[in-house]
Amino acid sequence: MDRIISVAIDGPAAAGKSTVAKKVASILNFTYIDTGAMYRAFTNAVIKKGYDPKNEALSCSLIPGMDIELKEDGRVLCNGEDVTKVIREPLVSGNVSYIASYKGIRLALVEMQRKMAASKSVVMDGRDIGTYVLPNANVKIYQIASVETRAVRRYEENLAKGIPTTLEEVAEDVRKRDYIDSHREFAPLKPAVDSVLIDTSYMSVNQAVDAVLKVIHDKTGLEIPCH
Ligand code: DC
Repeated sequence: MDRIISVAIDGPAAAGKSTVAKKVASILNFTYIDTGAMYRAFTNAVIKKGYDPKNEALSCSLIPGMDIELKEDGRVLCNGEDVTKVIREPLVSGNVSYIASYKGIRLALVEMQRKMAASKSVVMDGRDIGTYVLPNANVKIYQIASVETRAVRRYEENLAKGIPTTLEEVAEDVRKRDYIDSHREFAPLKPAVDSVLIDTSYMSVNQAVDAVLKVIHDKTGLEIPCH
């Protein structure tokens, strides 16, 4: 049987983690796990129920029975409903950091994430993967980029997806999420001590992918397929 390898990619909002992680997973034939999508799906469920995401008790009341599935084709299902598109909308992006700061919700989602990584090789992206979810991950990357670069990237992504936002709104959202994500009490955003820092501010997607693949090769000895 092939050896199971786990790759953790953490970093702030819109640093290009998911684009890079998806490509790396596809090149290595690993499963890609987007943990941010799980916090987003939970946030959407809270909003849909008519609850205020700033209300911890009401938000946490949805934990029992919450079922979030990440499909191999990239679809996100929440209690059977396809929420792939709606979880990227500004209403969800603007509220997800509150939901991600609640310990009860984090514990429930972390349990799901650990189960997903237990039996197969994964590339998992998030904020606390190397520090908390998979502390024994074979490879830990901390991917960053400047606020300006991240805002432009997220703005262009939204444009392509037909999601109406302005560059100023996106930059504000990125700053706000950076603050809340790195100041929360439980499992805040921070680099793991044994992580490798990759700054993608001046890198193309392919350069960032190659940088991550090199770290994986150096740390695990895994032969990287031609791509
Ligand atoms: O990566 P993203 O922008 O889709 O993440 C959405 C939010 O979820 C982000 O503001 C922080 C939170 N998050 C987290 O706290 N822990 C993770 N492992 C992944 C995301």
